[in-house]
Amino acid sequence: MTQRDLIQRLPKAELHLHIEGSFEPELMMQLAARNKIDLRFKTLDEAKAAYNFSNLQEFLDLYYEGMQVLRTEEDFHDLTWAYLQRAAADNVRHVEMFFDPQAHTARGVPFGAVTEGILAALARGEKELGISGYLIMSFLRHLSEEDGFDLLKVSEPWHDKFIGVGLDSSEMGHPPLKFERLYKRCEALGFKLCMHAGEEGPPQYVREALLDIGVDRIDHGNRSMEDPALIEILRDTQTPLTNCPLSNLSLCVIHDLKDSPVKAQLEAGLMVTVNSDDPAYFGGYVGRNYEQVSQALGLSDAQIIQLARNSFEASFLPGVSKKRHLAAIDAVTH
Ligand code: ADE
Ligand code: ZN
Repeated sequence: MTQRDLIQRLPKAELHLHIEGSFEPELMMQLAARNKIDLRFKTLDEAKAAYNFSNLQEFLDLYYEGMQVLRTEEDFHDLTWAYLQRAAADNVRHVEMFFDPQAHTARGVPFGAVTEGILAALARGEKELGISGYLIMSFLRHLSEEDGFDLLKVSEPWHDKFIGVGLDSSEMGHPPLKFERLYKRCEALGFKLCMHAGEEGPPQYVREALLDIGVDRIDHGNRSMEDPALIEILRDTQTPLTNCPLSNLSLCVIHDLKDSPVKAQLEAGLMVTVNSDDPAYFGGYVGRNYEQVSQALGLSDAQIIQLARNSFEASFLPGVSKKRHLAAIDAVTH
């Protein structure tokens, strides 16, 4: 079996995916027309030419601009459904999906329209594609902690629909501890805790997320590799890191895929996983992330299989479901 076939055939979970980052320019233009909204880009080529970033903020500016055409529950359904079909084609069996409600409610889109649209597509994905899906509500870290508390209140009727909370957007200058009280409250409410940390921010941000906030998962975590004592803590606690190779390359977190930390993290015994982050903007869904990072780093088949196993181990699925998915991996590889 070629490595490409192996990657395709392995059941996988995707744990770091912003649904708004799966907004393909084709669909963006369709929804702009449907909602009678003018987009800055008139052609697909114009849109794609703009997808050229030198840091996280340049991407975020475009990401928030693109999502302005998402207005109705149907829009959020169509966006999510398009992602799920794409994920199914890569043999993704489970997804834990971030969404950014504050980026929509600030534009006057009701929280319920956003959430119900996504949930309807997730239910359809389970029924028609056999993909299970959990939703993770993300706070925007460039906003205040008070804004985060407001979101927590507005979202109250849907709290049982979310497996956890996340923290994303501009990292530098917005350390985890800015949200310490909010995360304490979320923990008390029973949410799983995720945070982007160490994408652009220093290892100290990963330490805060892990040791002060007590998160269950670190999103990205690249810069942990600068801190040997932190690497030891990550290994001893088996705290999952959701790495996103093509995102790292697009946002100049690394300058070549050969500099991806995935192989070093596997070899250090860390619970690293491979994910797509914002696949419409970074040139590939999860399968392509596996393929490209494997090619650049010369990963062995055993390491690819380990990444697929990690994706389920690091998920928030109950133990019985993890076992079932791991057995399906064994069935492909034995
Ligand atoms: N929001 C969407 N993608 C993100 C990323 N890679 N980092 C921070 N915030 C994000
Ligand atoms: Zn992300």
